[in-house]
Amino acid sequence: MRKPRSVREADVAGRHVLVRADLNVPLEEGRVADDTRIEASLPTLRYLVDQGAAEVAVCSHLGRPKGLDPAFEIAPVAGRLRELLPDERVRVLENTRFDPGETTNDPESAKRLAEGMDLYVNDAFGSAHRAHASTVGVAKLLPAYAGLLLEQELEMLGKLLGEVERPFVLVAGGAKVDDKLGVLEHLGGRADEVLVGGKMAEELRDENPLPFPVELPTDVVAAAAFAADAESRIVPYDVLPDGWLGLDVGPESRTRFGELIRGARTVFWNGPMGVFEWPRFAEGTKAVAEAVADADGYTVVGGGDSVRAIQELGLAERVSWVSTGGGASLELLEGKELPGVAAIPSA
Ligand code: 3PG
Repeated sequence: MRKPRSVREADVAGRHVLVRADLNVPLEEGRVADDTRIEASLPTLRYLVDQGAAEVAVCSHLGRPKGLDPAFEIAPVAGRLRELLPDERVRVLENTRFDPGETTNDPESAKRLAEGMDLYVNDAFGSAHRAHASTVGVAKLLPAYAGLLLEQELEMLGKLLGEVERPFVLVAGGAKVDDKLGVLEHLGGRADEVLVGGKMAEELRDENPLPFPVELPTDVVAAAAFAADAESRIVPYDVLPDGWLGLDVGPESRTRFGELIRGARTVFWNGPMGVFEWPRFAEGTKAVAEAVADADGYTVVGGGDSVRAIQELGLAERVSWVSTGGGASLELLEGKELPGVAAIPSA
């Protein structure tokens, strides 16, 4: 994989530096509900401050607003960042998506971002699959460098694209089946076992369009309705009662998946095994998270929901790499060069 040039190669002392971070974090009642991405952006910001940058202007999108929208103002995020890094040289610009030219990569939007700035550092791995003004356009106007998080994400996820220790177990789940088939196709043939749970497993029950076999659940927790308190029972995977929904993998599948994961030397996990937000349907995801944490080899968790599960279970410290990228980590593993990375000159 091509290496973009590093912020460590830049001469930042006395310079005005524009940093694109991915501070797109969940908000609840106007407060930051999970600051993982803010924390992850700190090493680059601290580095720039320590190297004597005159100004560090941080920009990010937040949510998917259609133009100006008070519900998506960056203020709570900026407040949390200030608490973590109280330095007057660091300031946070307003939500990049308040400018309609951001997502269309309008050159005028890029120009506005670049104004008064000397250098551009892209540290927004989670947004590197987007060709926007703040991730691509501005890199054409200022000398562009990769931030420390972006570099580390490329290195840690990139290991899965090279030679890996075996057995290599790939665990896929979640609802966004179409998004994930590309990754499965690219990586699956290299894995020794591909375990599929969640909604994906239902989609693959009748026909597997992939050019290799996959391990599907043998039993599921079936529910009479899509509700946290729905009537439920354990049934074999292939005999779901009419009108019932499989909302989690069953105990037999959990044990089997757990054994395969614990025996692996390399694991990539993306996507929950069921509706884990509802405790009665969280056991499959929990079992996978615990097995990934127990596995001895190189373990990577990517994608918003699986990352949230591993964080909530307090297991993040026990995996080799928790990626801040959802869609970005998937596209990278499909073997694509991400536009935000492609826009940075080589090392
Ligand atoms: C993410 O949360 O995956 C990134 O911040 C990208 O957000 P987007 O899908 O709205 O571009």
